[in-house]
Amino acid sequence: MIEFSNVSKWFGAVRVLTSISATVPKGSTVVLCGPSGSGKSTLARTVNRLEPIQEGKITIDGADIHAAGVDVNKLRTGIGFVFQQFNLFPHLTVLENVMLPLQRIRGQSRKEAAPAAMDMLTRVGLADRAKSLPADISGGQSQRVAIARSLVLTPGVLVLDEPTSALDPEMVGEVLKLLRKLSEEGMTMMCVTHEMGFAREVSDRIWFLKKGELKFNGEPAAFFSEDAPSEVRSFLSAVNRTR
Ligand SMILES: Nc1ncnc2c1ncn2[C@@H]1O[C@H](COP(=O)(O)OP(=O)(O)OP(=O)(O)O)[C@@H](O)[C@H]1O
Ligand SMILES: [Mg+2]
Repeated sequence: MIEFSNVSKWFGAVRVLTSISATVPKGSTVVLCGPSGSGKSTLARTVNRLEPIQEGKITIDGADIHAAGVDVNKLRTGIGFVFQQFNLFPHLTVLENVMLPLQRIRGQSRKEAAPAAMDMLTRVGLADRAKSLPADISGGQSQRVAIARSLVLTPGVLVLDEPTSALDPEMVGEVLKLLRKLSEEGMTMMCVTHEMGFAREVSDRIWFLKKGELKFNGEPAAFFSEDAPSEVRSFLSAVNRTR
């Protein structure tokens, strides 16, 4: 459903993505990994046009999303985006944070938005915190609220950029568990993460970027095997050393 063909991007004179060609099939979970500075965030951000591209094409369900005349706001409402930082509005309750896209983008009243937002909070296991303020819930709960907020407009794709990197270790598990559930429910996901356990158990495909090049695109079993490319092997041993 998302197709990258020969996508290249430069920041000024520096090429940060080099001829990326790959597909995220509908209903699949792709994990995007690679060393710092390899272009993971940049590639993720091209999907909702937070980053322009200079060469190649990205299509979602066949539509060229970087074409002139694309309604960027409409494009973005069809893609849930989750960042490392949750960016919840501190003065709004958990429920109000999740209601906001429905009110702002769908033009719903509070009365209309509340039940759908509540359903979404139930789905992420936080119905009982609906009336809390963000300051009164944990980091893991905050990220689950952010995920609920990104899903409330029922996007076709969820793009996540290191959703657990800002969390204390004991809170990583609850967020990964939620992502696993969404994956099993058939959500199409593209997730930048260093959580190799998640990559191994949940992803359908792993993309490995190095210096802007897609050096590996395959199933987890191949990625974690002895026969993986040497760049993958050394990346994995570096990840293991830091844990
Ligand atoms: N706005 C920008 N202007 C110039 N260069 C940038 C900009 N954003 C990123 N870069 C550069 O592009 C390259 C890719 O950066 P990117 O943030 O995509 O890497 P990353 O794989 O997400 O790294 P990390 O694991 O540290 O998050 C890096 O060399 C970075 O310095
Ligand atoms: Mg990044």
